[in-house]
Amino acid sequence: MIKVITYGTFDLFHEGHYKLLQRAKELGDYLIVGVTTEEYDQARGKLNVVDSLMTRIENVKKTGFADEIIVEESQGQKFSDIKKYDIDIFTVGSDWVGVFDYLQDYCKVVYLDRTKNISSTMLRTKETPIQRIGIIGTGRIANRFIPEAALVSGVNTQCVYNPHFESAEIFAKKWGIDACKGIEEFFNSSDIVYIASPHETHYSYIKQSLEHGKHVLCEKPMCFHKEQARELFEYAKEKKLILFEGIKTAYCPGFTKLLGIACSGAIGNIRSLEACFTKLEDENSRELKDIQYGGSFTELGSYCLLPILKIFGHDYEEVRFETIKDSNGIDIYTKAHMRYANGLATATCGLGVKSEGKLLISGTTGYIVVEAPWWKTSYFEVHHEDPNEIERLSERFLGDGLRYEISDLLSMINGDTRKDFKLTRGDSETIAGIMDQFLAERNGVV
Ligand code: CTP
Repeated sequence: MIKVITYGTFDLFHEGHYKLLQRAKELGDYLIVGVTTEEYDQARGKLNVVDSLMTRIENVKKTGFADEIIVEESQGQKFSDIKKYDIDIFTVGSDWVGVFDYLQDYCKVVYLDRTKNISSTMLRTKETPIQRIGIIGTGRIANRFIPEAALVSGVNTQCVYNPHFESAEIFAKKWGIDACKGIEEFFNSSDIVYIASPHETHYSYIKQSLEHGKHVLCEKPMCFHKEQARELFEYAKEKKLILFEGIKTAYCPGFTKLLGIACSGAIGNIRSLEACFTKLEDENSRELKDIQYGGSFTELGSYCLLPILKIFGHDYEEVRFETIKDSNGIDIYTKAHMRYANGLATATCGLGVKSEGKLLISGTTGYIVVEAPWWKTSYFEVHHEDPNEIERLSERFLGDGLRYEISDLLSMINGDTRKDFKLTRGDSETIAGIMDQFLAERNGVV
């Protein structure tokens, strides 16, 4: 019996897939088809797969060509599958010519001609037109955003706006996009607005963007007042638009995995959480010069509050702040202590004090530790009373990690609500409420 194996994502199943499977089956007597998981596709940079794994498997099954369907979860699996299933022929479309020649030592490798003029990418683009992204702001984060957005299929960074037109022009030239002189011209050229301007301008830019019928991705913190956050989310809902706060950690695969494990009882009942993020800044930096909205907590607090709210929820009994301020009254180091009915949490942030950036989640039977940079979660350990009993888990985190939030935003715009849980409206509103209290106490306006 000749055993054949082939692999693919098989998203939005099309004629090219059908013909490939048909010819793969004809190569032998028994065909095994490996269908990729969403996580593996993400890890290899294929973002925005539309169909769920179950749907993609179902579609392969329906062709009747597959004698067996398996799931492909990681790089290197092809080699072990070939051994495990005693494969005679590995086959794949001609877009992969050469890539799998290394498997020739173990079985025959056949590249089948690809069907012309059809691909999942083409269908995704047809079903969901390319979304044009317009950026407000030209700072560090905006510069990081563009190469990350370029990795997400289905979006195109189109233009930039900055009230200082010269800055917009320099930025636009650097990235080969358009600089808009006026905000109306900017809105006319965008479908999604990415707001990366100074914190205090977020509220007004979000509101204007929604008024113009644009989806919004806003850098954290989205706003400083819970009421404002509520109003903006209500407005977005009314206008059937997506309003999305860009706390990148929430969308990275490692963080999702971490929450899954923490909440599965692996360390018993969770009772304590400590999150710390410090990043030394120059005393002349915007972060330490802006006496109204700058400082450690407004800058980094969103990251540290994220795991706390995801694990303990929004109904905290108390939040109490301790800060060390510089001569301008800006906090260079802040600890936010939160008390819940069944747990305690601390969010520690520093722009002028360096500390170990660790996330520690403690439960009744063990603890999980994520070393810095835990906000780019890629590795963590689960410990128990017995020091020899350590579980080590890892997940890929690529580049600056903004690709994950951009990809999830796009899925949500295209009607996929499966990603909503990662950062909910309630999470963003609660963070805004905590920021509100913090600023009122720090700036003395209670
Ligand atoms: N395939 C093919 N002809 C096409 C499209 C795909 O023969 N027109 C083959 C691929 O070469 C691969 C298999 O079908 O062997 C699964 O490919 P997959 O990557 O899932 O499909 P694509 O349409 O190429 O997807 P994408 O556009 O997302 O890369």
